[in-house]
Amino acid sequence: MRINEDTLLEGKNVVLVPYNAHHVPRYHQWMGCPELQQLTASEPLTLEQEYEMQKSWRDDDDKCTFIILDKQRWADPTVLEEQCMVGDVNIFLTDPSDPSLAELEIMIADPSYRGKGLGKEVARMMLCYGVTKLGIRKFEAKIGLDNKVSIAMFKRFHFHELSVSQVFREVTLGMTVDQAVRTLLLGDMAFMQEKVYRKDQGSQQEVTSQVTSSNATSQATM
Ligand SMILES: CC(C)(COP(=O)(O)OP(=O)(O)OC[C@H]1O[C@@H](n2cnc3c(N)ncnc32)[C@H](O)[C@@H]1OP(=O)(O)O)[C@@H](O)C(=O)NCCC(=O)NCCS
Repeated sequence: MRINEDTLLEGKNVVLVPYNAHHVPRYHQWMGCPELQQLTASEPLTLEQEYEMQKSWRDDDDKCTFIILDKQRWADPTVLEEQCMVGDVNIFLTDPSDPSLAELEIMIADPSYRGKGLGKEVARMMLCYGVTKLGIRKFEAKIGLDNKVSIAMFKRFHFHELSVSQVFREVTLGMTVDQAVRTLLLGDMAFMQEKVYRKDQGSQQEVTSQVTSSNATSQATM
């Protein structure tokens, strides 16, 4: 999807930037890890295939991908963007006849960053982005039955069980963006700022201007 190619989302502890070619070597390194392949139900790819995948994620109208950066490292101008990468987050539009339905995937690839609230922060940012920028009204997540952490995280965001496949050892969770969820999710968006990302460079100096900030009124509790 090209909608986010110039978008940088800045949260409290993370920064989300569009997935670009300079991120691919590190991404490919992550996906060589059998544990991550199993947790994300992914097949290993060659580096060349990974570059093709990055290009298709950018070009295909049904996929919106951001790379998750450690904000503290990113704030250091001497650190390259690739060295700040901790994971990725995707929205897939799964039904061509219903562009308001999307699947959400989150991966904190670096184990040392897990369990510190980053997954939750990224989920909230991407849910807000999906609702406000992509018009998503219904989210789904497909998660391995043994991936208790991921299941617990999505349930924190009011996802509930839609179906279980014993064959694929996978549960599908879903969440409809009703008024209660909108209030909870979008009530206070001050935690996230949308800025311009310039893809021809590779650090926080890419930020040229702030385009969105919110005028929050109430405190969301997700
Ligand atoms: C699943 C994942 C995205 C969660 O992100 P995270 O940063 O580790 O999780 P957070 O610290 O933000 O915690 C989010 C919630 O997950 C649950 N959780 C986190 N660590 C947990 C643990 N060790 N045991 C049980 N639940 C846990 C909790 O519900 C927590 O919310 P709470 O703290 O309000 O109770 C991350 O662990 C990950 O990417 N793992 C590997 C890849 C993966 O499994 N991706 C999902 C594929 S569907």
